[in-house]
Amino acid sequence: MANLEIDFCGVRIKNPLVAASAEPTLNAKNMKKCIDTGAGGVIAKTMTDSAAMRELTTRAKWRFLNQKHEVCRGKVPRSFSLYSRSGLAIEPPEDFIKEIKETLKYAEQHDAVVIGSIGSVELDGWVTLGKQMEDAGVPLLELNFGCPHPKLMPGVRTGMNVGQDFDYACEITQAVAQAVKVPIMIKVTPQVSDLVEFSGSLRDAGAAAVTLTNRFIGFVPDIETGKPLIYGQAGVGGPWTKPLTLRWINEVRQAYNGEIFIAGTNGAYDWRDIVMFIMSGAHIVEMCSAVMCYGYNWLKKQVKGLEDFMDEKGYKTIDEMLGIASDSAIAYSDMPAEKAKVIAEKCVNCKMCLKACFADAMQEGEKHTWVNHDNCIGCGGCYSVCPAEGAVEIEVVP
Ligand SMILES: Cc1cc2nc3c(=O)[nH]c(=O)nc-3n(C[C@H](O)[C@H](O)[C@H](O)COP(=O)(O)O)c2cc1C
Repeated sequence: MANLEIDFCGVRIKNPLVAASAEPTLNAKNMKKCIDTGAGGVIAKTMTDSAAMRELTTRAKWRFLNQKHEVCRGKVPRSFSLYSRSGLAIEPPEDFIKEIKETLKYAEQHDAVVIGSIGSVELDGWVTLGKQMEDAGVPLLELNFGCPHPKLMPGVRTGMNVGQDFDYACEITQAVAQAVKVPIMIKVTPQVSDLVEFSGSLRDAGAAAVTLTNRFIGFVPDIETGKPLIYGQAGVGGPWTKPLTLRWINEVRQAYNGEIFIAGTNGAYDWRDIVMFIMSGAHIVEMCSAVMCYGYNWLKKQVKGLEDFMDEKGYKTIDEMLGIASDSAIAYSDMPAEKAKVIAEKCVNCKMCLKACFADAMQEGEKHTWVNHDNCIGCGGCYSVCPAEGAVEIEVVP
């Protein structure tokens, strides 16, 4: 049986799936439900000294949207969007710490890790919150520089308002890293031009890990009413964001392999996605939207799915999969030459490939299409649209 354990910033976690900081980790009661699923750990809802961010959560709203970006009523499709307005932990720090302590006790009995998350509006506040979390006993601390909502709340300088100010973000990171002994992870916003150099600066400032990434801000009108859904702009994400997130994980892995740990979040829907995150370079994967949609037990299914996949493929440890896709990615300039090939007996002559060819390579034949190799550039359009299994192949040419 595969061993799902992972060393993350020196902390052993029994498997790489962690419930992300959000409503499923809003308090001890919710966090215990996450722990019961067998997930490797939980990241508590972000503890904050901002009254505005605490109050917002008491008026939180969200909608699951379908592919047309209409509100789902009933079945939520795999390619959903979660459009939401929510704040940070509802209780003030002195009360929220009690929830953390209660969860830590429970987690110890269930071999799960509780990660503290903090978000302040002042430099000193980050240090104070960090120390409070450390004193409570968490082995890891996540600094939330990615929450999209403060951007929409004038005067609230936390979340992505920090994540977009690289100098201030590094200043906070350094201050907290110097003040606490536990490793710190920095959860960043994707709404910046570059996360690679920034990740390096955060590492230099004392971060043990980066969490790539929090969610985007979006805007969705309801065409029936002419008004925006849930009153205006909101946080947006869903499984469709995965390639955008993996792009950054890929780049940070390539730039700093072995120098910084990576937590992946924003777009992991199921165990297949967890595998993709790991193969891109994420040591652990934080999951939120799918749990909010399908319930806590979703986590349990994904741990099992990951274990079964590893057994089937013969991966004995998470480390064997870690970053393997990123490490085998090659530059545009090094791509091999390729050509399409039609397997005549499998072609059903539907001519879909003709419509998808822009190099004048696919040619109409009496019984099947054929490829003019002088024109074929090996783009793979024909291969992608062909409905007959095995009728089009792409071959590397010398
Ligand atoms: C309703 C909601 C509340 C969230 N609250 C927090 C939070 O308090 N702190 C935080 O760091 N991230 C928060 N997040 C972001 C999630 O932790 C997670 O990183 C994000 O949703 C992307 O992961 P996913 O694609 O699995 O949903 C929240 C997300 C949602 C949808």
